[in-house]
Amino acid sequence: MKKIDLSRFSCRAEAYEASDDIPTNRSDAPTIGDVINRRFGRRDVLKGALGVAAMGAVAGTGLAALGGKKALAASASYSFTEIEHGVDETHHVAPGYSADVLIRWGDPIFADAPEFDPMNQSAESQAKQFGYNNDYIGYLPLPYGSDNAERGLLCVNHEYTNEEIMFPGLGKQDGDAEFAGMTQDLVDIEMAAHGGSVIEIAKSGGAWQVVRDSEYNRRITASGTEMELTGPAAGHDLMKTSADPSGTKVMGTINNCAGGMTPWGTYLMAEENFHGYFWGDVEGHPQQAAMERYGVPGAWYAWGAFYDRFDVSKEPNEANRFGWIVEVDPLDSTSTPKKRTALGRFKHEGGESVVNGDGRVVVYMGDDQRFDYLYKFVTAGTYNPDDRAANMDLLDEGTLYVAKFHEDGKVEWMPLVQGEGPLTAENGFPDQATVVTQARLAADALGATPLDRPEDVEPNPQTGKVYVMLTNNSRRKPEQVDAVNPRAENRFGQIVEITAANGDHGSTEDTWDMLVVCGDPADGAVGAMWNPATSENGWFACPDNCAVDNQGRLWISTDQGSGWSRSGTADGIWALETEGELRGTGMMFFRVPIGAEMCGPKFTPDDTTLFVAVQHPATDGTKAYPGFERSSTFEDPATRWPDFQDGVPPRPSVVAITKEGGGKIGS
Ligand code: FEO
Ligand code: CA
Ligand code: CA
Repeated sequence: MKKIDLSRFSCRAEAYEASDDIPTNRSDAPTIGDVINRRFGRRDVLKGALGVAAMGAVAGTGLAALGGKKALAASASYSFTEIEHGVDETHHVAPGYSADVLIRWGDPIFADAPEFDPMNQSAESQAKQFGYNNDYIGYLPLPYGSDNAERGLLCVNHEYTNEEIMFPGLGKQDGDAEFAGMTQDLVDIEMAAHGGSVIEIAKSGGAWQVVRDSEYNRRITASGTEMELTGPAAGHDLMKTSADPSGTKVMGTINNCAGGMTPWGTYLMAEENFHGYFWGDVEGHPQQAAMERYGVPGAWYAWGAFYDRFDVSKEPNEANRFGWIVEVDPLDSTSTPKKRTALGRFKHEGGESVVNGDGRVVVYMGDDQRFDYLYKFVTAGTYNPDDRAANMDLLDEGTLYVAKFHEDGKVEWMPLVQGEGPLTAENGFPDQATVVTQARLAADALGATPLDRPEDVEPNPQTGKVYVMLTNNSRRKPEQVDAVNPRAENRFGQIVEITAANGDHGSTEDTWDMLVVCGDPADGAVGAMWNPATSENGWFACPDNCAVDNQGRLWISTDQGSGWSRSGTADGIWALETEGELRGTGMMFFRVPIGAEMCGPKFTPDDTTLFVAVQHPATDGTKAYPGFERSSTFEDPATRWPDFQDGVPPRPSVVAITKEGGGKIGS
């Protein structure tokens, strides 16, 4: 069985994306135009009147090419002092703000849950404690329907596990040592550390605290939470396994990356790199090509050694039951999460939604892999703000679309509907269940635009704009460059802005523009993430998640992975200008400890608290920094954030940021 060498990369998603031996989408979808005539070339000509050098002006405002600080006398829409860039063992926030750890991996979330004890972990304890690698954060004010910014439910994804720093004695799990020392007990702990948490939190004495005895508190795991498949693929032969001949019930959820909160207060968990949990062999299987298009089996984890359902040689269809958007009702801790198959199966980064003018709900979704696609789902029914129950199955009926970006600034949304265009039985799509289950193949057939790893996609309900984070793409070749992916060997990513036609998110023809091509403006390439009014070197790399505040301002979180995309500063939160002269420039507001990535930015409804998720501290890119040149282990981590106690490993944690003395973040 083929295993991936993870030695260079602790973040498994980044390892996957950086590895050479994994099939990526090589579909021959036509490129948008040749390099010379591409859209930016035309725009640069227009900007030539300003004396801006052609390549330097590609992104944002072209400030880099203007060559110095104070080149523009524009005022920023944010007022805080940017933090110093760098890398060290702890977190940093802008002056005048507090950044307090709210909850850590292993913290008990029930009244009867045991305290964290890293030397005596068990699956039973973990299932009552906050999970590992917090990613998406949702906030639902309590009581339901209010905009309470001092009491609510935090809905948090736990994307994956890093066994070498979770468990003592394992060492780095790579090369020949991969899976050495893994036991069923450890696998069971990993499964219980995956999934999500719903926790009630409340402000007490000005500080956020977890309400441990809340009736809402719940752990969702990979091994202990039964889920229902709903929508077109439910009950289809592709969903049937020996444990579930009905094809409608799945145990658990995995690799829940970003997500979303729906207008009716449910929590969407996006299943991203599900392929990594399966091992075995699909050679000769009728679904071999489809499995390989999804990278199944990825063999990142030892789960298949102990559970047949994670061995595709034995249970090939189990892999079809992951890669979905999971909808959870956080107001009922006994509710059964639903895997909403109408929204398609791919490596879902997130699922942020907006109520369209006609009442339909539109969910935007990225498929985070090199050369994969951007999707949106438009419900058939309409949202009823007066009847929550009437909305609970809205996500089962509607139309899934995939995006094609044209050189002239048009975005075409192509429906993934069986019987339309190439999606016929003759082409391998006999029914809608197959279309949604093999959504990547259907999108290939439609000629969707391969993108530089679509991560979070966030609509701005105030403006009709939609922000698309494209994080990086190590494998784009010069001949594959196009308008929306303007760089080969794209280390730093870009943010694309879609404008819904006439504010209609159900439109099948929108327009797009480049908000910023991230990266170093000094490298003479196309980066311009530099705000001369505020920063010597304010550019950033690798946008991953984002949040839009009540003023319609955009906040970005970054994930640079390890080494290859590094900018020289730790990941963090950036306030990004989207309008005016400073459009495309940003300031760093928060910084994570070494080896972490930044996830989950979420504001309370009044913007007075910003919750952020510090994921995998100590693991990623540590070798690049003096004093840290090693791969972290339980015994010897690059940082012991946030406890800084001997014997206590680093712990992924949610941090609550507030302004000292009160007030809106970034005001
Ligand atoms: Fe889990 Fe695409 O980041
Ligand atoms: Ca992400
Ligand atoms: Ca990430």
